[in-house]
Amino acid sequence: MIRYLSIFIALITSFGISAHEPSHGISGTHYEKESPLAYATNRHGPDGSLFLDPYFIPYLLNLEGQRVLDAGCGAAPWAIYAAENGAMVVAIDLQEKMIELAEQAVKKAGVSEKVTLFLGDVAELPSPSNFFDRTLSINVGCNLPSTMRVCEKMVGLGPHINEMARVLKQGGKAIVTAPASFGVIFTDGTSKEKVFEHIFKVLEELPLNPTFSEITSRLNQLKEVYRATFAIKQGKLVLITDEREIEPGEDIWRKLPGLTVPNRYHPESEYLEEFANAGLMMEACYRPQFNSDVECAEYNAARPSTLHLGQEYSQHHPFVIFCLIKR
Ligand SMILES: C[S@@+](CC[C@H](N)C(=O)[O-])C[C@H]1O[C@@H](n2cnc3c(N)ncnc32)[C@H](O)[C@@H]1O
Repeated sequence: MIRYLSIFIALITSFGISAHEPSHGISGTHYEKESPLAYATNRHGPDGSLFLDPYFIPYLLNLEGQRVLDAGCGAAPWAIYAAENGAMVVAIDLQEKMIELAEQAVKKAGVSEKVTLFLGDVAELPSPSNFFDRTLSINVGCNLPSTMRVCEKMVGLGPHINEMARVLKQGGKAIVTAPASFGVIFTDGTSKEKVFEHIFKVLEELPLNPTFSEITSRLNQLKEVYRATFAIKQGKLVLITDEREIEPGEDIWRKLPGLTVPNRYHPESEYLEEFANAGLMMEACYRPQFNSDVECAEYNAARPSTLHLGQEYSQHHPFVIFCLIKR
């Protein structure tokens, strides 16, 4: 069932953001028109290829009679997983196209009775307090600005984490995942020299102060790049090779497999501060990675090519997984 909440749409449009314009909006980032489908069909989030998932899947098992919130659900892979494991799920996303894809996926999985989808904002949840047994925020904070006041209203990462905590029951658990290793370029194995050459060619061709569509269309040419971070410095789009070049909350662009998305940079310390402010206590924190290329190759050799992981997992953790409990 989909319930479109006019209040949320009003909130989005009141900040002058169209749901179809890719942008770094104040409520969250919006992808280009075709990107939600590209996001849903390329294995993401946090990973979809069984490497990171075992760290938080245990929190999504044996959920008979439990209530789960999937905040920033995208095409709802985790909402569906939780529903298949017995939960009644509420899933919410800011982008209409994502909710449409989620609706199709939920129907296909045969869990429509167990998943309620909302178009809305993760920083203003349509839920009573102390309601859910689990809340999920799987790579959503990276879409939000840092905590700030806009027109007497607090927006951004802080309000999102506060909402994750508010709607949780006492003793309930929250899983929050976030991208990491922003200064590392992850590729399909093409040589570093070739990749750099290609990146710099693409960047050189971009005009000063490029538009969103100029950025995404150029960066999407980098098919061999699975993950890389870009930011605008003095009007020019540049490749980030050291996380210290970007500021907490800064607008960034992330090249992912098959698409480029607008994001915000948040270091781990910013998440930790917001968890503490919201009364969420850390139960576990995972930064999964392979210790060597050999380990990575062994992992891949045991799997079909569709589940292979790239070099990004060798000695780098592309994601961090926070498992939290409400005090
Ligand atoms: C990186 S995707 C992750 C999707 C999903 N959690 C997954 O793991 O596949 C981030 C999602 O957060 C959504 N989002 C961004 N800002 C939001 C906000 N303020 N409120 C609700 N959803 C938001 C985006 O539309 C996008 O679908």
